[in-house]
Amino acid sequence: MRSDYLGFSCLLSAVILQATAVLAADDDVLKRGAYLMNGPVACGNCHTPVGPNGPDLSKELAGGTPFDFPEFMAFSANITPDPETGIGSWSDDQIARAIREGIRPDGTVIGPPMPIEFYRHLSDDDLKAIVAYLRHLAVVKNEVPRSTFNIPLPPNYGPPIVSQGSPSPDDKIAYGGYLVAISHCLECHTPRGSDGHLDMKRAGAGGNSFPGPWGVSVSRNITPDLEDGIGSWSDDEIKAAITTGVRKDGTHLMPPMAFGYYANITGGDLDAIVAYLRTLPPQKTTN
Ligand code: HEC
Ligand code: HEC
Repeated sequence: MRSDYLGFSCLLSAVILQATAVLAADDDVLKRGAYLMNGPVACGNCHTPVGPNGPDLSKELAGGTPFDFPEFMAFSANITPDPETGIGSWSDDQIARAIREGIRPDGTVIGPPMPIEFYRHLSDDDLKAIVAYLRHLAVVKNEVPRSTFNIPLPPNYGPPIVSQGSPSPDDKIAYGGYLVAISHCLECHTPRGSDGHLDMKRAGAGGNSFPGPWGVSVSRNITPDLEDGIGSWSDDEIKAAITTGVRKDGTHLMPPMAFGYYANITGGDLDAIVAYLRTLPPQKTTN
């Protein structure tokens, strides 16, 4: 009887221990999601409505930001868990597929400017962490207008992704490349060819225009070219531009780069990002 009791209590404590381990694991996943979303990945830069004092966090990720370009009039979607105006009725797998492959549960394709080509690099673990973060958001009811596109959308952004890892943070340059991809730096900083696609042979050469309430900003050359790029900047000068929006010469950069979010990038991750940028082939600025 006594040994049964002991056995039971051992079993129970084993169950409790296991449950705590699961909770701690869930906690870690959510923490990672919070770091990515409020740091390098910065989905909120497009999906959180902006008020007069910056992002309106009472409507975190509730969408509605307009993107008015000749090719499209797009509105970022409400990605809070509201079942009617957000993505609350989607399963985790459906949300994950929408982010990494750009396909909604009804089979339609998500259009630009959401940088799906870069989100295709997301590892399974980081994607899961982002989905966990989205699930934990406050529900916000916000009906967003439909986007209209004057360009044909692709049927998909590539073959289905079954499973994917990421480079080890110990491999600084490779991991920096991963971070630059999921932060979609090169979406804004790479010129487009005549077909409208990013000309990756000129990755990082800059020259794209971003109209907005700030006027028009033009993305800069972030390759290591000594005259046209940032080859002569120190690591700290590059990091300050990324996290504070202040250039080497002390002038302030205009939006839409996500400085407020990038300010939360860890020192180690910033080191990796800068190490990777220094490996880009140097480019001249042509436009
Ligand atoms: C550069 C701006 C931009 C960024 C960055 C961005 N999105 Fe989007 N996203 C959009 C726009 C615009 C749409 C609507 C496109 C359309 O109507 O086809 C959209 C649509 C979506 C949808 C589809 C929702 C629906 O109801 O149709 C999901 C899910 C989504 N985004 C999640 C994310 C997540 C998660 C991130 C970060 C990993 C992210 N987005 C980053 C602009 C962006
Ligand atoms: C949404 C578009 C966008 C994204 C994403 C973006 N940038 Fe930028 N970036 C810009 C624009 C536009 C400028 C120039 C703004 C200006 O001149 O006022 C800029 C400027 C810079 C500068 C200053 C260079 C100079 O010569 O002044 C650096 C460095 C930089 N970006 C690095 C990055 C890195 C690294 C990332 C990814 C972590 C990134 N950017 C993501 C749009 C973007």
